[in-house]
Amino acid sequence: MTDPQDVEKHYAHGDLLGTIEAAIAKLGKSIDTITVDDLAPVDEFHIGGRLASEELLSQLSLSPESNVLDVGCGLGGAARFCADGFGCKVTGIDLTEEFIKTGQALCQWVGLEDNISLHHGSALAMPFDDNSFDAAYMLHVGMNIEAKADLFAEIARTLRPGGLLGVYDVMRTGPGELAFPLPWAANTETSFVVTAEQYKTAFEAAGLELTAERNRGDFALSFFEALQANSAAAGGPPPLGLHVLMGKSTPEKVKNMVANNVAHRIAPVELIARKL
Ligand SMILES: C[S@@+](CC[C@H](N)C(=O)[O-])C[C@H]1O[C@@H](n2cnc3c(N)ncnc32)[C@H](O)[C@@H]1O
Repeated sequence: MTDPQDVEKHYAHGDLLGTIEAAIAKLGKSIDTITVDDLAPVDEFHIGGRLASEELLSQLSLSPESNVLDVGCGLGGAARFCADGFGCKVTGIDLTEEFIKTGQALCQWVGLEDNISLHHGSALAMPFDDNSFDAAYMLHVGMNIEAKADLFAEIARTLRPGGLLGVYDVMRTGPGELAFPLPWAANTETSFVVTAEQYKTAFEAAGLELTAERNRGDFALSFFEALQANSAAAGGPPPLGLHVLMGKSTPEKVKNMVANNVAHRIAPVELIARKL
C-alpha cells in the first residue's frame, strides 16, 4: 500500500513558486505579463508537455459549457490550457500541497482563477458530487497509484453518464526491471506501472467503456531527443523547464526514462473511455 506522504515528499520542492517567479524574470517577463503558453514548459509535468495535453484533450468533446475534472492536476498546467483553450470550467485535485498552492498562484497570474479551482486531496477520495463532471482527464498520475480499480471507480462516480475520460499514463509494454529513479518515483516503493490491459480491466469494473487506445512510445522518444538537443544547443536547460520540478536528479531520471522506453519496458499510452 502506498503511503501518500511518500508520494508528496517525492514531488515537494520547497520554494517552487519563488523559483518559477525568478525564472520568468530571466525570460524578461513578470507575474503581470506571463501567459499560459509561457508557463507550459514547467507546468505540464508529463512526456510531451503541452502538445500531449492538446492531443489528449482534443479527444474529449470539450466546449465552453463543459465542467471538467483534472485528476492529479499537479501545478495545473493542463487545467489552465483546458480553461484557456476550450473555455471550460476546470476542477483539479492533487496530493502534493505545494503543487496546489503554486498552481493557485499561477492561475491568478494569468487571470484564470475564476475558471479553475484546485484542491489538495487524493484521487482515491475526491470531495466532489456524483455525476458532476462532463469530462475528466488524468496525465501521468496512475504510476503513483496502486489501487487502479479504486481510482477508476472514484473517477467514474464523479463523471456523468456519457462523459468521457482521457488517460495518458506511462504503462508497462514489456518485461524487464525498470531503471530508477524515474520522474514519478525514486524507487519501486511508490511506482505502480501496469499494462494497458490492467487499466482496461479497472475501466470495465468501474463502468467505463474503452473507445480509443494509442501507444505514444515513439512520440516520447522524439520529445526527449528534442529536449536534449535544445538543451545542448543552448548550453543548458531554459529558465523554465521540467528540470525545475525534477531537481538535481533530472539527467538521471530522463536517462532512465529513455532507456526503459527504448528497451520497450514502458511507454506512455493514451486511453479514452466513456462512462456507461
Ligand atoms: C508526474 S505528476 C503529473 C502532474 C500533472 N498531471 C501534469 O501532467 O502536469 C504526478 C502527479 O500526481 C499526483 N498524485 C500522485 N498520487 C496521487 C493521488 N493518489 N491523488 C492525487 N494526486 C496524486 C502527484 O502529487 C503529482 O502532482
